[in-house]
Amino acid sequence: MTAYKFIETSVDQQIGVIELNRPKQLNSLNRNMVGEILEAMQSFDRNDEVRVILLVGKGKAFSAGADIDEMAEADSMSLELLNQFADWDQIPLIKKPVIGAVHGFVFGGGFELALCCDVLLAADGTEFSFPEVTLGVMPGAGGTQRLTKLVGRAKAIEWLWTGERIQANELQKHGVINRIVSPELLREEALRFSNKIASMPPLAIRMIKDSVNKAVDYPLYEGMQYERKNFYLLFSSEDQKEGMKAFVEKRKPVYKGK
Ligand code: CAA
Repeated sequence: MTAYKFIETSVDQQIGVIELNRPKQLNSLNRNMVGEILEAMQSFDRNDEVRVILLVGKGKAFSAGADIDEMAEADSMSLELLNQFADWDQIPLIKKPVIGAVHGFVFGGGFELALCCDVLLAADGTEFSFPEVTLGVMPGAGGTQRLTKLVGRAKAIEWLWTGERIQANELQKHGVINRIVSPELLREEALRFSNKIASMPPLAIRMIKDSVNKAVDYPLYEGMQYERKNFYLLFSSEDQKEGMKAFVEKRKPVYKGK
């Protein structure tokens, strides 16, 4: 397992766990940390022993956002030359399911990271916010785009303009969070859910993710054509043969991800 400075990784029954590990700074995300998160995700994406990636945070917060200390003295050209968000752009390209289990504070870049997850579980009492406006800036890693697509313009612009804290149950009502669980059960519930997805045929899971993501970007007709191609593609997998054969033979299928 690669040694990282700002995260910890482990594999637990086909679940690749990435734990943000900068708890003294509330897991605020510096550039190297984002690089490590991406590297770990890409490595799990290529690892045959991993079927689902689970993202969690150590300490009292999932993440309080981008590292303000690192950004405070930046200027426009240094950010452009650093290509500040290059790693962020790669995170949504991960093919395997990414489950986020968040707690405490999920602010700024932490919220943007959570919005990159396919399924989001939150501990009861978790607070979310885009406080960038209070720092004289705005989100830069997808916050204005992803939040608006998820909750619609009215709430998105209100939350982005005020930077106010949003409670987990409010976000659940708006379809951003899948489940709220008690803080002490968060990890257990996240592993249980991840295991359930890991038990499904991996190629079908992969093609569903790919198709659902296209639904966000494509007009309906083009999205339907895309979906159909993925549907046809799955008929060249062994798992499709196994799944349908097992149904006919009234037994449990054994999926290999081939
Ligand atoms: N960057 C750097 N350090 C941070 C940080 C951040 N985003 N958030 C917290 N920390 C540090 C604090 O400076 C503090 O360090 P010290 O102990 O050395 O003083 C430590 O973490 C603990 O934080 P607090 O004492 O503030 O903890 P708290 O419980 O009183 O408050 C909080 C928690 C309300 C989340 C508060 O820390 C806070 O408001 N943090 C900043 C949140 C923020 O503005 N995030 C947006 C960043 S910009 C961004 O994300 C841009 C983007 O789109 C990519």
